[in-house]
Amino acid sequence: MIDNEISYIILFGAITMFINIIQYRKILKYSLFFSNNRSIRISLLIKLNLVIMIFLFLGYIILAEVIMNYIYVKTLLIESMFLAGSIFVFSVIIVQIRLNEIVHEMYSFDTVEALVKTIEARDPYTKGHSQHVANLCICIREHLPRSYSTKINKNMLKYAGYLHDIGKIGIPETILKKKGKLNYEEYEIMKLHPMIGKNIIKSNILFPKISDWVYYHHEQIDGKGYFRVTNNNIPIESKIIAIADCFSALVTDRVYRNGKTYEEAIKIMNEVSGTQLDSKIFDIFMNIDRVKIEQCKPNSV
Ligand SMILES: [Fe+2]
Ligand SMILES: [Fe+2]
Repeated sequence: MIDNEISYIILFGAITMFINIIQYRKILKYSLFFSNNRSIRISLLIKLNLVIMIFLFLGYIILAEVIMNYIYVKTLLIESMFLAGSIFVFSVIIVQIRLNEIVHEMYSFDTVEALVKTIEARDPYTKGHSQHVANLCICIREHLPRSYSTKINKNMLKYAGYLHDIGKIGIPETILKKKGKLNYEEYEIMKLHPMIGKNIIKSNILFPKISDWVYYHHEQIDGKGYFRVTNNNIPIESKIIAIADCFSALVTDRVYRNGKTYEEAIKIMNEVSGTQLDSKIFDIFMNIDRVKIEQCKPNSV
C-alpha cells in the first residue's frame, strides 16, 4: 500500500520538476529582452539555475529509485517533501513569468506611444488614426472564431494597429501633407511606407513578429497590393489591419472631403471584398454590432 502511494508521489514529483524546467526557460527568454550589463549577469544566473534544476531532476529520479529499493518506512514523508518543494518552485516560476510579461507589456506600450507620437507630429491625418485602427483590430479579433483568435496575440495585434503607418516617418512632408490626390511619382514614394515601417520595427526586440504584419498591411487578396504579394502569403493579422485601416480612412474627415457614414463605408468595402479585402474577415466585420464599431473611434478622429 505504502509502495503504491510512494510511486504515485514520486511520479507527480518528477512530472512537476520536469514542467518546472520547461517553464523556467520562459524566464530566460524574457531576461534576454534587457541587454545592459546587470541583466547579462541576471541571465547568466538564470541559466545556472536551469542547469541546477536539471541536476535536481536527475538526482530526484536516481534517489527515488534508491528509496524504492532499500528504504521502506520514512519514504512517504521524504517523497512528500520533495513533491511539496517542486510545487512551491512551480508556483514561484508561474508568478515570475507573469511579472515578466507585465513588465514586457509596459515597456512595449511606452515604446509604441513614443513612436506613434513621432509620426502624429509629422502627419496630422494620423492623429487618432493609429488608435482607431488599433481599436478596430482588437474588435475584429474578438469576433473571429476561437480557433483563429487564440492564435493571434492580442497585445501584438494592438501594437501593430498603432504602428502600421509608422513608416510614414520616412515620407517627405510635402507628400504627407498634400491636399488632394498624389501624382504617380508621389504615390510611388508613399507606397514605400510599409517597407520603411518594417525596417523601423524589426530592429526593436520588443516586437519580434509585428514588422511583417506592418509590411503586408497594403497587400490585396488579388495580389494587386503595394508589393504584389499573393493571398496565401499575407498574414491574417495584416488582413485584419487592412480592413481596419480601410474603414478608418473612409469614415475619417480629411481636409479635402468629409468622412463617409458607416453605411457608405460598408457599401464601398463590400464592393472590394474578395479582391482587395479578405471576404471572410470582412463578413465578420460587417456583422459586428455597429455600436461596437463606432465605439472604436477615438475622440480625436
Ligand atoms: Fe498605410
Ligand atoms: Fe493607415
